[in-house]
Amino acid sequence: MFKSLRNQMVFLTQFGKQFETTGSLVASSRFLAKAITRFLAARPDHPIRVLECGPGTGAFTNQIVQKLQPGDAFDLVEVNESFVDVLNQRFESEKPWQAVRGLSTIHEVPLQDFETQGNYDFVISGLPLNNFPPRLVAEIMEVYFRLLKPGGMLSYFEYMYIRPVRSTMSPGVSGNRIREIHRIVESYFSRHRVARDSVLLNTPPAWVQHLQAKAIM
Ligand SMILES: C[S@@+](CC[C@H](N)C(=O)[O-])C[C@H]1O[C@@H](n2cnc3c(N)ncnc32)[C@H](O)[C@@H]1O
Repeated sequence: MFKSLRNQMVFLTQFGKQFETTGSLVASSRFLAKAITRFLAARPDHPIRVLECGPGTGAFTNQIVQKLQPGDAFDLVEVNESFVDVLNQRFESEKPWQAVRGLSTIHEVPLQDFETQGNYDFVISGLPLNNFPPRLVAEIMEVYFRLLKPGGMLSYFEYMYIRPVRSTMSPGVSGNRIREIHRIVESYFSRHRVARDSVLLNTPPAWVQHLQAKAIM
C-alpha cells in the first residue's frame, strides 16, 4: 500500500518534470495491464523473448513477470532514470519479480537507440506516441516492427478518442501534428491490427491496440 502510493508519487513528479515522455498523470490500472498482456497470457510453452517499452513504475511489468517461464528473456527499455530506480527496487523486493530477475534486463536508453541481439515474440509498450513529433512516431513504429519476430505481437495503448478529439479541437501546428500521427498509425492498423480492446476502468479510459507482424509463409 505504502509502496504503491510512493510509486504513484514518483509518477506524478515525473509527469511534472518530463511531461512529453511520461505522458500521463498516473500509472495505468490493473485492468489496462491485463488487457495489454492478454496475448502474452496465451503464450506458447517454448521459451519466448519479451520486450517492454516504457515500463514506468511497472504497472504492465507486474503482469508480465507473472507470465514468464524459465528459459524466457525479458528486456525492459526505459528512458527515465527515476523509473529505472523504481523498477530495480521492485526486482529486488517483490516475490514474482524476484523469481524472474535472472531472465530480466533493464536498459536505460530511449527505445529508438536500443540495440539488441535477436527479435521478440511480444512487444508491450506504454510509450505515449500521441505526445511525440510525427517523425519520432514513424521511427518508433518502424523500430517495433523491426524488433518483432515474424508472427510476433505488438500491444500498445492510447487514450480513447485522443487523436480524433485533438485533431479537431487543436489549432494550427498542434492539429497538424496529431493528424500526421493519425495517418502514420492508421497505415499500420490497416496492415497489422488484429484486435482493439476498450478499457474503461483506467484514468483516462484507453484503447489497447494489438498489431501482428506478418508471419513467413
Ligand atoms: C505513459 S507512461 C507509461 C508507464 C507504464 N507503462 C504505465 O502504463 O503505467 C510512458 C513511459 O514511457 C517512457 N518513455 C517515453 N519515451 C520513451 C522512449 N523514447 N524510450 C523509452 N521509454 C520512453 C516514460 O519514461 C514512461 O515511463
